[in-house]
Order: sequence, then structure tokens, then C-alpha cells
Amino acid sequence: MSRQEIIEYLGADWDRVLALIRDRLHSDVDLLKDTNDRILSNSGKQLRPMISLLIARAIAVPNGDSICCAAAAELLHNATLIHDDVADESAERRGRPTLSALLGPGPAVLVGDYWLARAVGLIVDTEHRDPMIRAFAKTLTDLAEGEMLQLEKASSCDTQETDYLRIIHCKTASLFVAAAEAAALSVDADAEQQAAAIAYGAALGIAFQIKDDILDYAGSDTLGKPVGVDLKEQKITLPLLEALKGSPREAEIRALVREIPSHPEHCDGIRRFVAERGGVEKAAGRLAEWVDRAVSALDAFPDSPARDYLAEIARYNQFRQV
Ligand code: IPE
Ligand code: IPE
Ligand code: MG
Ligand code: MG
Repeated sequence: MSRQEIIEYLGADWDRVLALIRDRLHSDVDLLKDTNDRILSNSGKQLRPMISLLIARAIAVPNGDSICCAAAAELLHNATLIHDDVADESAERRGRPTLSALLGPGPAVLVGDYWLARAVGLIVDTEHRDPMIRAFAKTLTDLAEGEMLQLEKASSCDTQETDYLRIIHCKTASLFVAAAEAAALSVDADAEQQAAAIAYGAALGIAFQIKDDILDYAGSDTLGKPVGVDLKEQKITLPLLEALKGSPREAEIRALVREIPSHPEHCDGIRRFVAERGGVEKAAGRLAEWVDRAVSALDAFPDSPARDYLAEIARYNQFRQV
């Protein structure tokens, strides 16, 4: 499977999503227009709208509401990235300087707000507006809660696996859930297919963030964003959690993580600990379990190319390097 193959399969629906995003972002304020064009010219993987359209197609024929929820998911995703780069003080995104590095954190927050507001505007215009608003409102709450819980845990350094799973569900999987759930709503899916869309989005999203966290330990410069930053920010993610499991050094390593702000040199020793205990490989094993869950959720849909592509997207998480 290639990305291009999926885009060709989605055909005119895909073009309509991209056109709608561009159209809704229109502003006659030059600074905003130029900034939006800059983001659109380097758009990333666009996985969430792809998933929306594939879910709609796996159930029925996508309609105007399916196009709207696909576009809204991508607008909202970009808003969260722009805000996340402010929160993480990150300098690089998609191989280029972040908006917050270019314009400063204040303007970057405003641009993120603009994209978020445009996403909301799209959802409000749909025929399935009430359930769709509920789905996206839940995600917006989750996103903020997830990022705040992550901050809380970064200062206490007592992250357990249940905390980690809650954080990544909220900050990442929740948006995949909304993209899939709203798409199922758009084509009036029955209760079983609705539940399957949600289950697929949730498992895929968890797998996606586990891979992102693995790449932060094991990725290369070609990732297009800085690597090795999670530990510097005292985020205890799955590779470290897996390394800590059953280790007699757990209390000592957590104490080192707590001291990172004043002793950044601790990061090297902690990274060696993760490597020695096979933390990345163990996290990859856990990732595979979530991929299997995502693929199993698709059993509720009839056999179709759309269902096969959704399964391929889930599996792609095990191999992706970007
Ligand atoms: C990055 O998402 C943020 C996470 C949820 C890990 P993507 O990897 O989908 O970002 P782009 O849109 O392709 O750049
Ligand atoms: C992704 O978390 C969370 C978002 C909602 C954007 P990260 O902080 O790990 O994402 P990257 O690595 O900056 O893309
Ligand atoms: Mg980040
Ligand atoms: Mg990351």
C-alpha cells in the first residue's frame, strides 16, 4: 500500500476535503493568509482525513458531512500541533521551523485558535451537527486534559502505565476517535459499526502515539522534528516504562528523571538504561498489540478495499519512520 494508492482510491472525495480546508481557512489578513499558506504547502501525512473518508466508505457512500468531518479533523490536528509546539517550546515541525519559532508563541497560539475555530465552524454546518459537535467537543476536552496531565506527571515523575495510556489516549487517540466516529455518524452507521469505528480510532491512535514515542528514542534526523526531547522534558513514555518494569533500579532512575532540569546530563545514562533493558523493542511489542486490536475492530465492516486500507494504515505504524 502507498499513500498515493489510497488518495487515488478516495478520488474526488479527497480533492473535496483539501479544497474545503483551503476554502475555510481564507482570510484577508495578509499575515494570517501567508501563515496559513505556509502550513498548507507542507501539510504532513494527513492521516486523520484519510481515516474519516475510509471509515465512511467502509460503511456506505461518503456524503457532504463525511467531507466536512474529514476536513475538520485535519484542521483540528494542525491546531493541536501548533499549540503543542508552543507548549513543548519546539523549534522544528515537518522539517521546517515551527510557527512559534518563526512568529513567537503568542501569534502561534492565535493561528492555532484560528484553525480550531474553522474546524468548529465546519462541524456546526453539518446535517449531523448535534452528535458531531458532541464527538469533537469530547476530543477538545481530552486534548487539553491530556496535555495538562502530561505536565503534571512530568513534574512528579511518577508516571505509571495507566497514566501513560490515559495521556496518550487523550492527547492523540481521542482525535482519531472523533475522525472515525464522526465519519460513521455522517453515513448513519448502525450501533455496531459506530462502536467499531470508535474502537478502531482508539486503538490506532494509541498505536500511533506509542510509535511517536518510540521514534523520539530511536528515530533519525529525517523525522522532521527534534528527537530525544521527551526525556529532556521529563516525559516518561513507554520505552522507559518498559525498561523500568521489574528493574531494581526503578527508584534511582525516577530520581534521576526528577533532576533532569538541573542535570540534563542524566539523560545519557537513562538512555543507556533504556537501551540495555530493550525498552524500545518491548514498546514495539506493545505497539503490535494495539495494531492487532485496531485491525480486529474492522471485523464489524464488510469486506472492501476501504477496510483493507484501514488495516494497512494500522499496520503501517509498525514500520513508519516519519
Ligand atoms: C504528530 O502527528 C503528533 C502526534 C499525534 C504524534 P502526525 O505524525 O500525524 O503529524 P503530521 O500531520 O503527519 O505532521
Ligand atoms: C502529540 O504529542 C500530542 C499532540 C496532540 C500534538 P507529542 O508532543 O509527542 O507530539 P510531537 O512529537 O511534538 O509531534
Ligand atoms: Mg510535542
Ligand atoms: Mg512526540
